[in-house]
Amino acid sequence: MRKIKVGVVGCGGICRGTYMDNMMYRFHVIEVVGVCDLIDSRAQYMVDKYGVKKMSFEEMLADSEIEVIVNLTYPESHFEISSRALKAGKHVYCEKMMAPTFEEASELARLAEENGVLFTTAPDTFLGAWEQSARKYLDDGVIGKPVTIHAQCTSHYEPETPFFDLAPKYFFFPLHYGGGFPFDLGGYYIHQMINLLGSIKRVTGFGGNMNPVRKYTNPKHPKYGEDFEVNTPTTLMAALEFECGVVGTFHISSDSQGTHSFQITGTDGVFNLGDPNSFRDTISVERRGAAPAGEGMVAGQMPKSEIGAVVDDGNDDQTLGEPVSSQKVNLPLLHGFYSSSRGVGLADMCYAILNGRRPRCHYDIGLHAIEVIHGIQESCKTGKIYEMTTKCERPAPIRTSALSDTAQEATLDD
Ligand SMILES: NC(=O)c1ccc[n+]([C@@H]2O[C@H](COP(=O)([O-])OP(=O)(O)OC[C@H]3O[C@@H](n4cnc5c(N)ncnc54)[C@H](O)[C@@H]3O)[C@@H](O)[C@H]2O)c1
Repeated sequence: MRKIKVGVVGCGGICRGTYMDNMMYRFHVIEVVGVCDLIDSRAQYMVDKYGVKKMSFEEMLADSEIEVIVNLTYPESHFEISSRALKAGKHVYCEKMMAPTFEEASELARLAEENGVLFTTAPDTFLGAWEQSARKYLDDGVIGKPVTIHAQCTSHYEPETPFFDLAPKYFFFPLHYGGGFPFDLGGYYIHQMINLLGSIKRVTGFGGNMNPVRKYTNPKHPKYGEDFEVNTPTTLMAALEFECGVVGTFHISSDSQGTHSFQITGTDGVFNLGDPNSFRDTISVERRGAAPAGEGMVAGQMPKSEIGAVVDDGNDDQTLGEPVSSQKVNLPLLHGFYSSSRGVGLADMCYAILNGRRPRCHYDIGLHAIEVIHGIQESCKTGKIYEMTTKCERPAPIRTSALSDTAQEATLDD
């Protein structure tokens, strides 16, 4: 099999944590040629650990063997790195989100088309086990016709959270331009909503940057007591209307304490979804008459205790007239990629190059997702409904399989 040669820009947390291992050892279609970072020691770490080349970005762009630039920089650098790579005729895979503003994201889309190259963007978790299985169950009608969707994710972000990196950026990007919570965590929910239901037609919202000047409150922090400027939206409460007619809520905040819920209601039941920032999670359906999974319905990827487990919610209220109680049934996962598979979107793009097909993480989803956040912010300011101007194609589903997590790559070769 021909491997696709890639150059990696940005050797920070996510590169060190997951990407490099996955690109080097997990996805056989990827060959890492070189790495670069503004901070030499970070690139050197990759050289020492993985035996790859340290390169400048200019060397990567000039290297005709490198077909794809993998942009793992922080959001503020996404536009600069992606635009230069696209102009140099390289395919680009960029970590989330595509760009800090809708204007910059639109310009990147234009550059990809103008230069005739592929441009794909994270998050790629919607290719994960629970996300793809949920898509299959939904398409198969497990809750009938979907009617509403509800996504809620709240957390409390402070500059001195454990993630905070003092050197060299001196800021924690989820509290900064292009990286706020609606982009950082919100992006996962929007991508999975698009994967499940397709494009969004209109949005409206309240909220914004709730507390632009904050203080470092941890006495152990070197900047304790100093003011800290937050220049990104931190709380958004939005209503969404999808092209397919489904209506939904999207509630995202880094100003309150932690919650997570993600549900779709339908004409025949309720589908409880997982955390779209994880590849593996429990999914369940609640509908009258739901029964435990039968013999032989083993997906191979769920712990036995989870397969078909029936959770009695204690609700035997039968005022609706049906002689059955509502049951919650955990559904088996039907797909692989259930361990941390970041980079699966890049692997999918490599197969798209080899097989001449459309990549699943096509930029049109990333662009649409950025416009959703942009539109909600516009609505917050104007008090009006924002009509979306972009549409995206619902990505092709990954076929179900009984392959193990590590053999799952074969399902991308389509
Ligand atoms: N950290 C996570 O848990 C996580 C999870 C999923 C996705 N992501 C995404 O991955 C991306 C990177 O996140 P991170 O946490 O690794 O950030 P990070 O700040 O730890 O690392 C980013 C690296 O990019 C380098 N960089 C920035 N601009 C550059 C440029 N112009 N040229 C070369 N190098 C440059 C920085 O020096 C830094 O080492 C973000 O888009 C983020 O949303 C992060």
